[in-house]
Amino acid sequence: MKQRDSREIQILIQSALEAAQLAYAPYSGYRVGAALLSADGTVYTGCNVECASFSLTNCAERTAVFHAVSRGQRAFSALAVAALPPEGAAPSYCVPCGACRQVLREFCPGEFPVICIKNKNEYKVYTLEELLPESFAADSFTEAPRP
Ligand code: THU
Repeated sequence: MKQRDSREIQILIQSALEAAQLAYAPYSGYRVGAALLSADGTVYTGCNVECASFSLTNCAERTAVFHAVSRGQRAFSALAVAALPPEGAAPSYCVPCGACRQVLREFCPGEFPVICIKNKNEYKVYTLEELLPESFAADSFTEAPRP
């Protein structure tokens, strides 16, 4: 994602912050939103969805990926992720967890930009390779089966 795409970045930031408002996070209170830009320009959002059986929780980033893939999208240009600060707390950067990094790697190359948001004016951009170096992915197989 290049400098000229700053308008796209602003749309992704806004979309991630809006998606976080829809989070279902009654156990942690940590509300996360993600906005995934597909290659055709469509933005797919996701929020975290928690469960009383805690391990079944789904992160915002994976919700966004599954949302997009279930709509027929498999090519992506960027992801933005934001967490809403709990009542009275200062905002802080939200970065994808390890499981989400691996799921992103399923569909995205090392250069894929991940925009980690603190607030609407402050964000950091990492490549997926920076977040998940030496990754294991479909191209790690000699004969990768492709359904
Ligand atoms: N969570 C996300 O949705 N994305 C992240 O990048 C980090 C963690 C969620 C999972 C859980 O609902 C809550 O945040 C606390 O871990």
